[in-house]
Amino acid sequence: MTTSDDIQLHRGLQGVYFDRTATTFIDGKEGVLEYRGYSIHDLATRSTFEETAYLLLYGNLPTKAQLEDFDARLKDARELPDQVLDVIHIVKDSHPMDVLRTAVSALASFDKDRADNSVEATYRKGIRLTSQFATIVMAHHRIRAGKDPIKPSKTLSHAANFLYMLDGKEPTAATADLMDKDFVLHADHGSNASAFTARVVAGTSADLHGAVTAGIAALSGPSHGGAAENVMQMAQEIGDPANAAQYVKDLLGARKRVMGFGHRVYKAEDPRARHLREGVLKLSEEKGEPKWYAILEAVVEAMKPYARRGIHVNVDFFAGVIYYLNGIPQDLFVPIFAVGRVPGWTVQVVEQYEHNILIRPLLVYTGEHNREYIPIADRG
Ligand code: CMC
Repeated sequence: MTTSDDIQLHRGLQGVYFDRTATTFIDGKEGVLEYRGYSIHDLATRSTFEETAYLLLYGNLPTKAQLEDFDARLKDARELPDQVLDVIHIVKDSHPMDVLRTAVSALASFDKDRADNSVEATYRKGIRLTSQFATIVMAHHRIRAGKDPIKPSKTLSHAANFLYMLDGKEPTAATADLMDKDFVLHADHGSNASAFTARVVAGTSADLHGAVTAGIAALSGPSHGGAAENVMQMAQEIGDPANAAQYVKDLLGARKRVMGFGHRVYKAEDPRARHLREGVLKLSEEKGEPKWYAILEAVVEAMKPYARRGIHVNVDFFAGVIYYLNGIPQDLFVPIFAVGRVPGWTVQVVEQYEHNILIRPLLVYTGEHNREYIPIADRG
């Protein structure tokens, strides 16, 4: 019998390679992130979410005609079936991530490709879900406030339409650009917990809606997507840059974590953070609320000693303040992460299907053996 002494355990599957991917490359030591071989810095500054989603799904940057066609398909898919809006009404008092999970699961029942797990059908479903995620989040936001959802625009970009559905006002070009950048930066990130979860589900040959629904559940926790919500709360508690050092000291003294710092893979600064940092700086000046940027930078300063241990800012650190300054409530921060991540989940599910294998690791048993079965009447 194999004993636990013979086994090398990899808790949290840390450092374990479990498959191959041609989608996203990450070098955690150097802080490098590429989608399909393109630097995240080029994509964040020169591309759009629509173009990046196409790139992730199909492997190459689109031609003008391909992008127009892809964009039209995204726009076509923005409206939700009435039955799904009814489901949102029923669960409206739950956290937006729970509502999103429930609504995406319900969408499976109304998708014409529901029973088709071919690569082509999975892409079609992924494109529809990319648009539907945005509508679900904003429709729920309106419904829970007793208002009618704003009908999605047929003309605005994905990012501008997302903000438009918040209150029916078209965002400025600069605001929409920053939201677009945020979606580009969140579009995929290798084998993170939610993508791995989606792959595990796809590994059983279950469908995309099932895989993505499970991915949403994995993303909802504070160790993964939930940190942006907590960062904003932290910034509000700090209240003034002068309080940041003491706040961080108290937090670490209580052996708690500073949200928006640290990463399982990056031991250098998360390359996505740079673009959001610039966004916070610009937006907080534009909105006449420079203190938020100053508070965040004061936290970064206080965390400098931890950089030696590989603990740097991650993508969630600056994102929350951007959403806050755009008037988005805190409990929508994680759903926004999910809205950006649909192309990544979709392409990873497709990669899984293409060389499918059941993902079924082992556990080291540490319980007892050979216990005597005692009938219930004789148990003390
Ligand atoms: N604040 C303070 N200490 C930290 C932090 C932090 N944010 N992150 C890690 N550490 C310390 C941790 O206490 C531990 O110290 P020790 O060895 O003395 O016990 C050491 O660093 C290693 O921590 P770990 O939990 O083993 O490392 P991990 O690679 O499993 O952690 C993490 C990754 C993201 C769960 C963790 O850094 C964390 O909890 N960060 C805060 C939450 C957060 O910002 N999450 C968003 C992640 S980025 C978005 C995404 O891609 O999902």
